[in-house]
Amino acid sequence: MSALESMLEESGQSVRRRTELRPKVGVILGSGLGGLAAEVENAVVIPYYNIPHMPQLSAAGHAGELILGMFAGLPTVMMRGRAHLYEGHDPFKATYGVRLMRALGAEILVVSNAAGGINPRFRVGELVLMDSHIDLMNRTGLNVSDESASTLANGLVRRARQIYSPALMQLALESSQSLGIGLQRGTYLATLGPNYESRAEYRAFRKMGADMVGMSTVPEAILAASLGMQVLAFSVITNVAAPDCLAETSHADVLVAAEQAQKHLLGILKRVLPETRR
Ligand code: HPA
Repeated sequence: MSALESMLEESGQSVRRRTELRPKVGVILGSGLGGLAAEVENAVVIPYYNIPHMPQLSAAGHAGELILGMFAGLPTVMMRGRAHLYEGHDPFKATYGVRLMRALGAEILVVSNAAGGINPRFRVGELVLMDSHIDLMNRTGLNVSDESASTLANGLVRRARQIYSPALMQLALESSQSLGIGLQRGTYLATLGPNYESRAEYRAFRKMGADMVGMSTVPEAILAASLGMQVLAFSVITNVAAPDCLAETSHADVLVAAEQAQKHLLGILKRVLPETRR
């Protein structure tokens, strides 16, 4: 057994000791979307510090936890709290949760994040389907444990053209339409952070083709796709970056917006996920 396999075995055992649930779906809850965890039935909650090799989160009061139970009729594992690269985690550690969810049995990964809107059509609180990304973190190549770099590279090259599952995106768009929810789609640009962008950067990113910008998700999505998972990703627009028309967004506005987006995301997932069983 390789070092990576034995790490995953230890982590997996600590989860399986606490629940018999074998998840088919993994969900990473982004900022402001943690409320989705309340929708998990018969939830078993395991703090990351009880799971060997999971990253420890630095944000005060947010230990991070894995939540296992039934969601939208499917056995699901959710991660509430994620490790960001800007906290100093290396890419392998920051994405370890994805490997663990895969090892537990998850075949689908739903990822969510809070993002700054660059597309001038986007409004605060809007839910956006990620249909592609621009990786300005440039840390994917460091996401290697004991897989040989060439094995990893082959997997990544094969999948790089289509990280986000066209079939799941189609289901999400159809579901949003039948629910009367406006679901935008767009390209997410990932920076290392933790700072927000300068005005010049916002302008440059727009010219590059980005619709929103954030500091997460891309390392997780690339890894999940290379592990053979079907990936579906959403951004919630929590601030709008209009570099030439600066307007402040109040914290209260952001909370209201996230609440609304969370309801919409829940509605969409409750329709999309049951369809994947067919
Ligand atoms: N920039 C980067 N990350 C973000 C932003 C932003 O404007 N909003 C939320 N996450």
